[in-house]
Amino acid sequence: MAQEKLAVVTGSSSGIGLAAAVELALNGYRVVATMRDLGRSGKLEDAAQKAGVRDPVDLRRVDITEVDSLASAVEAIVRDHGRIDVLVNNAGFSTAGFAEDMTLAELRHQMETNFFGNVAMSKAVLPVMRKQRSGHIVQISSVGGRSSAPLLSCYNASKFALEGWSEALRIEVHSLGIRVVLIEPGDYDTDIWERNLVIGKQALDASSPNKERSQRFAEFVKSRTPKRRDPREVAQLIVRVANDPNPRLRYLIGPDVTMQMWLRALLPWRRYERVVAKATRID
Ligand SMILES: NC(=O)c1ccc[n+]([C@@H]2O[C@H](COP(=O)([O-])OP(=O)(O)OC[C@H]3O[C@@H](n4cnc5c(N)ncnc54)[C@H](OP(=O)(O)O)[C@@H]3O)[C@@H](O)[C@H]2O)c1
Repeated sequence: MAQEKLAVVTGSSSGIGLAAAVELALNGYRVVATMRDLGRSGKLEDAAQKAGVRDPVDLRRVDITEVDSLASAVEAIVRDHGRIDVLVNNAGFSTAGFAEDMTLAELRHQMETNFFGNVAMSKAVLPVMRKQRSGHIVQISSVGGRSSAPLLSCYNASKFALEGWSEALRIEVHSLGIRVVLIEPGDYDTDIWERNLVIGKQALDASSPNKERSQRFAEFVKSRTPKRRDPREVAQLIVRVANDPNPRLRYLIGPDVTMQMWLRALLPWRRYERVVAKATRID
């Protein structure tokens, strides 16, 4: 009988990571679901039970910004499970605020998780996949890794960086049997814009030269009727990619992303910028 494949997911306490851990388990993977606070594992355990996952998901504490701990976390997984076939680099968050208002410390904090953390996790797993001569590294990027939006400069920078790094890595490791993939979701119903949203400290401060524009933007965000979608859609794509011996480099997912990328491609650039500024009420 073929050996069960082993998938590692980061940031699996909520949202896309949680859905991916459950979906991979339902599709025959042994899953190591990692999260930075094991006290938050209840939601995943409930979702796995409700979905009818039979084999227990192996829960482990991993904070991807504690980069010096990642090699030993990966060693322990290989010691206990023998291999790693799929790494889903999902952990991340978003920071909002006019670029002028964001401090370098806030930008660095964003990069530490969304870029350096994911890079460090990939680097920890690469020697294992190199030895196996197989493995998939699935980077959860964003449509924001292809197209920037006002007030998301920190988030966009972190995801553009991840895209550039992953594109080069993919070419470097293809001949070793390792596949690197970027998944680029649009708007999905997770904790990213609520519990985990970080608003720049100066963004709403009375001293900010952008205070009024920030308030108008916040009103625009509140006035939208979001058609946020079920993160299981992204999880199902992750499973398809993990099962594909030759996946593409990029997968955009979500109807809002298709519209955004079409507008960007079809409109003259200056017109596109005007449409975005007007729609988001920042002018
Ligand atoms: N939802 C969307 O609309 C959307 C769109 C495009 C891309 N994405 C990307 O999808 C990924 C998952 O986000 P989500 O939407 O599912 O949001 P979410 O529900 O907020 O989940 C984010 C996960 O990342 C974890 N995390 C944050 N920092 C971490 C760290 N340093 N180490 C380990 N785990 C950490 C969080 O842990 P805690 O529970 O401890 O906070 C949480 O489990 C992110 O990379 C995000 O950029 C989301």
